Amino acid sequence: MTKTSDDADLRAALSAAASDKPILHALRRQPLPAPPVWLMRQAGRYLPEYQEVRRLSGGFLAMCHDPEAAAEVTLQPVRRFGVDAAILFSDILLPLAAMGMELEFHEGHGPVLPRPLAGAADIASLLPVNPAEDLDFVGAALKLTKAELPSGTAMLGFCGAPYTLACYALEGGNPKQQARVRGLMHNEPALFRQLLDKLADVVSAHLRFQIESGADAVVLFDTWAGDLDRDDYREFAAPASVRALAGTEGLAPRMAFVRGSMHLLDEVASLGTEGMVLDWRSDIGEAFDRYGDRLALQGNLDPTVLLGPPDLVRERTRKLLAKVGGRPGHILALGHGVIKETDPEAVAAFVETARAAGSA
Ligand code: CP3
Repeated sequence: MTKTSDDADLRAALSAAASDKPILHALRRQPLPAPPVWLMRQAGRYLPEYQEVRRLSGGFLAMCHDPEAAAEVTLQPVRRFGVDAAILFSDILLPLAAMGMELEFHEGHGPVLPRPLAGAADIASLLPVNPAEDLDFVGAALKLTKAELPSGTAMLGFCGAPYTLACYALEGGNPKQQARVRGLMHNEPALFRQLLDKLADVVSAHLRFQIESGADAVVLFDTWAGDLDRDDYREFAAPASVRALAGTEGLAPRMAFVRGSMHLLDEVASLGTEGMVLDWRSDIGEAFDRYGDRLALQGNLDPTVLLGPPDLVRERTRKLLAKVGGRPGHILALGHGVIKETDPEAVAAFVETARAAGSA
């Protein structure tokens, strides 16, 4: 079969399956009685049932590689809170492991890549990736999860954006300063672009694989690109994200998240995705004024509000919803991930407030 007819078949199957999922309506900017709601990092250490599976599985990476464990923890927040989306339990760094990099997760430290890329030879040695073989456990977890989801709950897939993946691959861990990344970017821009292009091609294939495996929509996470100034974002990170998004247009809605993107909203809005995720520092009302006629907008409560009492969570969520004013295309979410010290009661209060918006 040709690629074009493959795409047409996939599109038809996907749009038939999409019809009863509020998040997919929101991503098409269709009016809804209340905004759909989910939370980044909704599966994780703040949930006792997650801690239990993690203990039995032998750690985070083992869970990611075990489709049954990954499906179970993906479903936990859906069962507990009735959120409108499940996001596959996995990590943006697994494609780097498939490209041949060593990857570890250290308790309390997050990800560690003990042998970060050190130059042109290392970049050239990165392996090409066929997600159906090299990341088959991701597809298996997506299929298992989707089979268990209530019909109105959307299945989300995701990838890290090339710039953020380059940060981890070059820094070997938490890329706070990005000295090696931005050193390479400023000293050897052509080599840096080569790395971004390689990463973009893997991301593109992986996003497509996740859609083929059942993801209803996908999120591209560029966690570190907000540290770039506008010119460097335009010159390096944005074209790499555009390249990563090639190949999924029309197959499933895509959302782009750039943490700390207040100075980059015009650029992020122009990547070609159907949705833009706002971090907590942007004003969502202003973003709707500016982009609401062409993009769905997700966000954007400050995740630290969920460290406060449930009444504060309700009050701040209602304030956020008032800024949106019921405009179509809103997905209620946090501006970043759930913090591990969060009380699950705060998450419940957040979700309930979205539901109450529909009956007000
Ligand atoms: O519920 C979900 O959101 C789904 C799963 C998910 C994880 N990571 C699981 C995870 C998703 C969508 C990610 C994406 C991810 N991973 C990003 C982009 C989004 C963002 O947070 O900005 C980034 C930068 C990573 C890299 C990463 N993985 C870091 C920095 C860490 C350590 C941070 C921490 O909270 O400890 C991880 C580990 C990780 N990924 C955990 C989870 C649940 C914690 C694992 C554990 O110790 O149990």
